[in-house]
Amino acid sequence: MSLKVAELSKTFTGDTEADHIDVLRNINFTIDDGQFISIIGPSGCGKTTLLRIIAGLENASSGKIFLDDVELTNPQEHIGFVFQEYALFPWRTTVENIEFGLEVKGVDPKTRRNAALEHIDIFGLSGFANKYPKELSGGMKQRVAIARTLITSPKVILMDEPFGSLDSQTRNSLQEFLLKIWQESKKTILFVTHNVDETTFLSDRIIALSKRPSRIIKIFEVDIPRPRDRTSAECNKLRKEVLDFLEKARANS
Ligand SMILES: Nc1ncnc2c1ncn2[C@@H]1O[C@H](COP(=O)(O)OP(=O)(O)OP(=O)(O)O)[C@@H](O)[C@H]1O
Ligand SMILES: [Mg+2]
Repeated sequence: MSLKVAELSKTFTGDTEADHIDVLRNINFTIDDGQFISIIGPSGCGKTTLLRIIAGLENASSGKIFLDDVELTNPQEHIGFVFQEYALFPWRTTVENIEFGLEVKGVDPKTRRNAALEHIDIFGLSGFANKYPKELSGGMKQRVAIARTLITSPKVILMDEPFGSLDSQTRNSLQEFLLKIWQESKKTILFVTHNVDETTFLSDRIIALSKRPSRIIKIFEVDIPRPRDRTSAECNKLRKEVLDFLEKARANS
């Protein structure tokens, strides 16, 4: 499904005018069906707020969201969210965490358990089905978090710095894993990150946001063929282009 964000703005209002925070200003972009788009921008510019609005967890001050050109009214049915923190339930095991979304949808216990076990296989978590989050590594927890989102078959997946807290080797292998899942499932993905290497390796397009109040300052089209080699000349060239652009934007702001 395609996702369109149209003229979206957000101001958090406080008790007084001085407390108002202008976060997003007239954000416009479209993600075509099955595309992988990433968003990059300084800390506090409003990336999480943007995802929360798309997911229906926060109201926009103005603007609209469309899925396949129809205004989005029931995001919980179509949109999956992988949060900035793992957000796993500590009192639930791996399999219980993964089946949670199906439980909420009222799927019967046997069907949802079988589906969760299938995901455990696909996500390389065999042997950890009955472990609690505190018994898992960071990379495993993040795989549980992604499996928990995918099991509900969302059309669009929003990911908020999902690999931010991982070491670079685990991050690299999870990036590869995510690309494989994305290519097989043909989902539309909107991925937020601070990491320029990650954006150039993963995305079809990179949307750069300014600092608050945030607007789109540049969209990079990434036409590097897949599978990509993150050390290739073309990946390095794009990485430098994005880094130089962000550096200049910082200096001028
Ligand atoms: N519920 C809220 N009420 C008031 N202000 C908020 C609320 N949520 C976020 N903000 C403010 O909106 C701005 C953007 O926050 P947001 O979390 O979206 O940034 P971000 O780009 O995701 O940052 P980071 O990269 O650090 O995760 C911040 O100034 C934050 O203080
Ligand atoms: Mg954030």
